[in-house]
Amino acid sequence: MKQVKFYNGQLMPQLGLGVFRVENDNTAKDAVKHAIISGYRSIDAALVYGNEEMVGKGIAEGIAAAGIQREDLFITSKLWLDDFGYNQVVQGYEQSITNLGLDYLDLYLMHWPGTNSTLMVETWQGMEALYQTKKVRNIGVSNFNIEHLETLKAQTAIKPVINQVEFHPYLTQATLRDYLMQEDIRMESWSPLMNGEILQDEVVNTIAQQLGKSAAQIIIRWNIEHGVVTIPKSVTPTRIEENLDVFNFELSEEQMTALDKLNQDKRIGPNPVAFNG
Ligand SMILES: NC(=O)c1ccc[n+]([C@@H]2O[C@H](COP(=O)([O-])OP(=O)(O)OC[C@H]3O[C@@H](n4cnc5c(N)ncnc54)[C@H](OP(=O)(O)O)[C@@H]3O)[C@@H](O)[C@H]2O)c1
Repeated sequence: MKQVKFYNGQLMPQLGLGVFRVENDNTAKDAVKHAIISGYRSIDAALVYGNEEMVGKGIAEGIAAAGIQREDLFITSKLWLDDFGYNQVVQGYEQSITNLGLDYLDLYLMHWPGTNSTLMVETWQGMEALYQTKKVRNIGVSNFNIEHLETLKAQTAIKPVINQVEFHPYLTQATLRDYLMQEDIRMESWSPLMNGEILQDEVVNTIAQQLGKSAAQIIIRWNIEHGVVTIPKSVTPTRIEENLDVFNFELSEEQMTALDKLNQDKRIGPNPVAFNG
C-alpha cells in the first residue's frame, strides 16, 4: 500500500475506505471487515455518520480475520460541529473511540470549519491540547479553505497534518492543492467518485476503455497520481476489491491532463464558507 508522509514524519495509507451513509448494522461491519481482509489499512469514520459501533466491530473482526494488529491500521474519525469548543474536543474524541471500541485514533479531524471563526480557533486549540496528551496520533481538519487555514496559522501553534476536502475531476481544487503543498499539509479527497456521478463521464469512460480498467479505478488512480489521499466508499465486496486494485497501472500525462481539464468547480456537498451543520 502506498503511503503519504506527514510533516511530523508519520505515515498514512494513500487509499482507505469511506463509510458515510452506511447503516449502523451488519452492512457497516461487513464492509469494513471485507476491506481489511482485502488489504485496506485505513478507514475514514465520523461520529456524525452514526455507525461508529458497527464500523468498530468490522475493525475488530477484520483484524482477527486478516491476522494483523491494531497498529497495522490507520483509523480516522471526526469531531462534529455540535461538539465544537476548547473543552468539548476531548468529550467528542472519547465518544468516538468508545463507539469504535479503540483506545486511540491515528487521525482526528475537525469535520468542518463552521461559520464562527473564534469558535473554530478555540476548537483547534482543544485539538492541540488533545494531541499534546498523546491520546491521538495526528490532528487535522476537513473542509477548510485557504482563509480558514491562514487563520489557524496566525492564531494557533500546531499545523494540521491533513485537510480532507471534496475532490474529483469536476472539482479539482487546484489553488487549494498548491497552497497545501506549499504548506506541507497533505490533501485528502472526500466523495472521490462524486457519489457515482463522475463514473458516467465520457472522458473518464474513454480512458477506462483504453486501459481496460473501470471508471472508478481511473478516478482513484488519478487521485493517487496527484498525491492525494483518497477514501472511496463502497459496501459492495467486488467494488471494495476493485477500488483497491489501482497500483498495477499508470495514467499517461495526456490522460491526467484530460481528467484535470474536466474541472467545473462543481460541488456535490456544501460550500465550507457557509456550512454550519
Ligand atoms: N469530510 C467530509 O465532510 C466528508 C463528506 C463526504 C464524504 N466524506 C468521506 O468520503 C467518503 C467517500 O465519499 P462518499 O461516500 O460521499 O462517496 P464516493 O466514495 O464518491 O461514492 C460512493 C458511491 O459510489 C459507489 N461506488 C463505489 N465504488 C464503486 C465502483 N467501483 N463502481 C461503481 N460504483 C461504485 C458506492 O456504491 P456502493 O456502496 O453501493 O457499492 C456509492 O454509491 C465517505 O464515505 C466519507 O468517509 C467526508
